[in-house]
Amino acid sequence: MIELPLTLPCGHTLANRFGKSAMTEGLASPDGHATAAHQRLYASWASGGAALHLSGNIMIDRRYLERAGNVVVEDDSGIDALKAWADVVHAHGSQLWAQISHPGRQCPRLVTLTPLAPSEVQLSVAGNFGKPRAMTEADILDVIVRFARTAAVLKKAGFDGVQIHSAHGYLLSQFLSPRTNRRSDRWGGALENRAHLLLEVVRAVRASVGANYPISVKLNSSDFVQGGFTLDESIQVVRWLSEAGIDLLEISGGTYEQLEFFKAHDPAEIRDSTRQREAMFLKYAKSIKAAANMPLMITGGFRTLAGMEAALRSGDTDMIGIARPFCLDPDFPARMLAGSLDALPVPEDRLVLGKGWWGPNSRANTMRAFNNQAQAGWYYHQIERLGAGLAPQPELSPWRALLGHFRKDFVRAMARKRAARHGTGQASSG
Ligand SMILES: Cc1cc2nc3c(=O)[nH]c(=O)nc-3n(C[C@H](O)[C@H](O)[C@H](O)COP(=O)(O)O)c2cc1C
Repeated sequence: MIELPLTLPCGHTLANRFGKSAMTEGLASPDGHATAAHQRLYASWASGGAALHLSGNIMIDRRYLERAGNVVVEDDSGIDALKAWADVVHAHGSQLWAQISHPGRQCPRLVTLTPLAPSEVQLSVAGNFGKPRAMTEADILDVIVRFARTAAVLKKAGFDGVQIHSAHGYLLSQFLSPRTNRRSDRWGGALENRAHLLLEVVRAVRASVGANYPISVKLNSSDFVQGGFTLDESIQVVRWLSEAGIDLLEISGGTYEQLEFFKAHDPAEIRDSTRQREAMFLKYAKSIKAAANMPLMITGGFRTLAGMEAALRSGDTDMIGIARPFCLDPDFPARMLAGSLDALPVPEDRLVLGKGWWGPNSRANTMRAFNNQAQAGWYYHQIERLGAGLAPQPELSPWRALLGHFRKDFVRAMARKRAARHGTGQASSG
């Protein structure tokens, strides 16, 4: 089934069921524009023929980044580089959709000491994130305008669709969660109010891109933290998204506090896995699907063709979302479609700094955070290599990945601050 096309509610067709899920690239120039490295990276990914390629987080506001290497789209100033990026994917017959995003409190100190958030609830992960300022009504209205403006520029640049990032604890996901949203105005309290910002953003983006342009939302099935956004709440939000009219719903789970979407696999489980154990959020798909009138893309953990086919056949998902395997095996969909590849590499079990106190399940928050950063850094390194036209480097140790990641993020953040000081960044419009 994976080779079959899928027609979306807006009328666009995806050529097969492989969706490359978003992975932040960290390859932007100091002024936040896409670069030749994006083109090389996506050429290697698109050569595998996945129907859909989602970009990594593209930020709507240069003051608040997920990471210093993010692409920022506030106006037309970087449009030529965006066009060149989309052209590369189109040359391989695939579609490029832009994931558009605001990090809220998950904006590192290297970018700003005072991020924005629904309420002043600080994220405590290895001291890396400042205490947020609670957003005013004007801040919230500005975010809605920015999502719509960024989507319009990306459409003009030739991107084939946009995805509104409302998962993984970023701003829109913070609004959905009662743990981070303690507001008592129209943007907080009851679920209807907590979902108000997401639904307003969908409405504004739809108004700016028109009825026939694909809009996706990435949503958590649950935050998997006490007092966070739950599965029942997620199902209700899916009902409202169905009424609002979107074209593809991507389901994930977790936040920076509980990186559920980033879990290491136990290879023993993979070998004799049922498809349920292989894909971590598939077990929530049936109840979400019952509330949805748009196609679903479940992402997280798919590693075998048998698991993917079984998930599609069961009707629980319409697209198979995959991220990490693209970093080691960039063109794997072509080989799966040709029947010459059954399973993807699973390096996650090796990407740990140690065992016990040093390990990913350490009781110390800081060690868990370092292990997560080592894993992220390891994949960032592979993405950088593909962006430089080099082969992946699977033998890289997690320690080297961690140190390299800290060093490079620091250098990028300083370069971005210099660019902002010298006025080479786009002007921020408020
Ligand atoms: C290096 C890296 C960067 C990521 N960046 C993003 C991102 O920008 N936006 C997003 O929604 N998810 C991001 N993710 C999460 C993936 O989209 C996906 O949900 C997760 O990796 C689980 O899928 P997988 O098991 O197929 O890797 C990232 C994951 C990795 C490994």
